[in-house]
Amino acid sequence: MPVISVPQDFNEEELYVDLRSIVGHPLFLKCEGFNFAGSIKLKAATEMITAAERDGALTPGSILVESSSGNLGVALSMIAASKGYQFLCVTDSRCNLSTRRLMEALGSHVHIITEPDTNGGFLGARIDHVRTLCASDNRYIWLNQYANPGNWKAHYHTTAPAIAAAFPQLDVLFIGAGTTGTLMGCARYFWERHRPVRIIAVDSVGSVTFGGTPRRRMIPGLGTSLRPPLLDESYVDDVIHVEEADTIRTCHRLARNGFLFGGSTGTVVSGATDWLAQHDTRALTAVAIAPDLGERYLDTIYQTNWLQDLYGENVLNSNKLTAGSQPV
Ligand SMILES: Cc1ncc(COP(=O)(O)O)c(C=O)c1O
Repeated sequence: MPVISVPQDFNEEELYVDLRSIVGHPLFLKCEGFNFAGSIKLKAATEMITAAERDGALTPGSILVESSSGNLGVALSMIAASKGYQFLCVTDSRCNLSTRRLMEALGSHVHIITEPDTNGGFLGARIDHVRTLCASDNRYIWLNQYANPGNWKAHYHTTAPAIAAAFPQLDVLFIGAGTTGTLMGCARYFWERHRPVRIIAVDSVGSVTFGGTPRRRMIPGLGTSLRPPLLDESYVDDVIHVEEADTIRTCHRLARNGFLFGGSTGTVVSGATDWLAQHDTRALTAVAIAPDLGERYLDTIYQTNWLQDLYGENVLNSNKLTAGSQPV
């Protein structure tokens, strides 16, 4: 029976969903949304705050500031509240309303960037704002999830060993790429142990993380408009790009089976399903990581008007279905 006195001390690390009957291929989904922050970002937040305290950068008078599409912001809000720090989250207009409300409920301030930078992305504009704040007052401490080694180390120390222990015969691991903290931490762990695990990065079409032309992306979590400094592509065996419409169809297919996951899980499962359809999956052990759950997306991915305005009336009925799937 787990008994805790601070919220960051609880995280469900051992839950997997067997998706074979839903996607038609062998695929285990590691669920990272069962903690008080509701996402995998609890791990990065904990590691980065602990390191900043250890280094003396974070002290009782500090004001934490971070650029986040939402989930890291919620995790930092929770830990900041628990430890008595102030926290300011710089996000953009794609941040879900419920995610913003969560941060505010936890006592944080939220600054919304509404204008993209000259590349057409929000990330540069968010980071510019954080830099301006830090230059204006030395109480601001920016953990900088995009470059902070604590971000990938969190997964090197927790997510990857947990998967390795649960699946000693693991062949393929599918990981969504945002800051690439999860991707790099897991990839380094298996590479250093000479485990023959294929590391497959899953990204959104329109993200520039692995090159390519920037395009509108509306689903937060995965993809970037600036190349992530943490990324070292030499650890990545394959990259899959997923259209947001496929992400949405996959989220809805999972929901029709009672599993309400967030947008990036739809992306990762869609990409994994396509990859598995093109490979011999007999005797293959494959795992994908689900970064969060679906409740924060009720006003977006699971809302008909939002879907139809952005992706067209027939987005859920399209013929482009991933292998083994049924129309939702
Ligand atoms: C929902 C969701 N999925 C995926 C990711 C990507 O994880 P990472 O930043 O470790 O690449 C994030 C990161 O914020 C996220 O919030």
